[in-house]
Amino acid sequence: MTHRIVGRLLMGALGFMALPATLSAQTAAVPTFTKDVAPIFQNKCESCHRPDSIAPMSLQTYREVRPWARSIRDRVASRNMPPWHVDPAVGIQHYQNDRSLSQKELDTIVRWASNGAPQGDPKDMPPAVKWTEANGWNYEKKFGGPPDIIVRSPKYRQKGGAMDAWYKPISEVPLTEARWVRAIEMRPGTIKGRKITHHALAYLMQDEREAIKQGLISADNDSGAGLFMEWAVNKEGEIMRPNTGKLLMPGARFRWDIHYSDGGEDIEDVVEMGIYLYPKGQEPKYRTMLSLYSGIQGGNRALDIAPNTVSVTQNFHVMRRAGRVENFQPHMHLRGKAQMVEAILPNGQMQVLGHVNRFEFNWMNNYVFADDYAPLLPKGTILRITSWHDNTAANKNNPDPNQWVGWGDRTVDEMAHIWINITYMGDEDFDREVEARKQKLAATTDRQQ
Ligand code: HEC
Repeated sequence: MTHRIVGRLLMGALGFMALPATLSAQTAAVPTFTKDVAPIFQNKCESCHRPDSIAPMSLQTYREVRPWARSIRDRVASRNMPPWHVDPAVGIQHYQNDRSLSQKELDTIVRWASNGAPQGDPKDMPPAVKWTEANGWNYEKKFGGPPDIIVRSPKYRQKGGAMDAWYKPISEVPLTEARWVRAIEMRPGTIKGRKITHHALAYLMQDEREAIKQGLISADNDSGAGLFMEWAVNKEGEIMRPNTGKLLMPGARFRWDIHYSDGGEDIEDVVEMGIYLYPKGQEPKYRTMLSLYSGIQGGNRALDIAPNTVSVTQNFHVMRRAGRVENFQPHMHLRGKAQMVEAILPNGQMQVLGHVNRFEFNWMNNYVFADDYAPLLPKGTILRITSWHDNTAANKNNPDPNQWVGWGDRTVDEMAHIWINITYMGDEDFDREVEARKQKLAATTDRQQ
């Protein structure tokens, strides 16, 4: 008996003596919230995880964050959060609006959360971020005033506890002559509106028969010029690249497609779109055209997804002129699993432009290439769109794996297309752009492709 007690005491004492060394080695290695983690959260999480935004909890202070440490570790390690679904292993990796974590940031968060999620010294806490309130426009300073045109969707009232709603009214654009657009911003009209506005799309309706004839937009567009602008939380707006613009014509109208979700109370809101025009007489040389590229060969009816299978669907589009691909935005519904856009060059070489390998229906992300990485593709390039649908029980969003699924508007039906902005140009301009790009990239050290 005495022996055992003595033995325990001794072991305890030894353990105690051994502890300080290990502890200090560990504390040196473990990141703390105030010093290491808070700056990352301010940068990569707070835009959604703060009061009155769309995420379920705020991640601004240690008290708010601590109860979520385990969930944060899981979501971050699996790259489920922040929502950004491009495959980091293939395709272009430079995006203007990249909200993903760097590997180093990811490792820091995971190590912190796996080691007791310590607070650290409160003195290390960076000052709180001042988020701009709902009534200022982001580009007001840059362009020396508010947008030239503001178009608002009609008011919508989302009842507390109501099911998700898709609202599709039409708004006129007050224009009597054609004008070039250099920037666009879109946002919910009020702070409360942010709680219910999951995302919003504005389709431009104007007569584009001439552009279709010239091969400037894909003939898959049935409702005119295609998508003009889209908004989801975290999006600041869109500024056209240098010497590039979108063209608005008199008689243009917008058809909204706004996804409202439950805000926990009755909320009434509008969506506002602010359009900045190029001054008259200062016309950009290039026109950017946003277009729907169907991923289904043989028309929508050919989409045919068997029960309990993962299916692959593919389609091809020839670029009739040279151009710069500005972005891509995959579109599928609940069975959507992955979507890829590739370029097959006239010399036969193939390039993956972008591969969204973890498509999530709830996140209609738009992937905008960084200025120096937006692919320049010669005339005759073929864009190949590949879509994967997972109609098995392994897909947690799948409402019924035993159904045959075809194309349709409802979320339980499917779609497979991709929205792409392309800026077309003549061959001489194209050669000049390629040359300028080469020189610019040769001058920088951080080029990876
Ligand atoms: C673009 C908006 C956005 C960004 C940026 C974002 N989140 Fe989220 N987050 C959400 C939304 C919306 C949800 C709720 C829906 C869901 O679970 O996917 C969520 C859910 C979560 C959850 C799960 C909460 C639960 O109920 O278990 C965690 C954990 C989380 N986010 C952590 C983070 C972290 C950490 C970051 C930054 C590194 C981050 N998020 C960045 C919007 C965002």
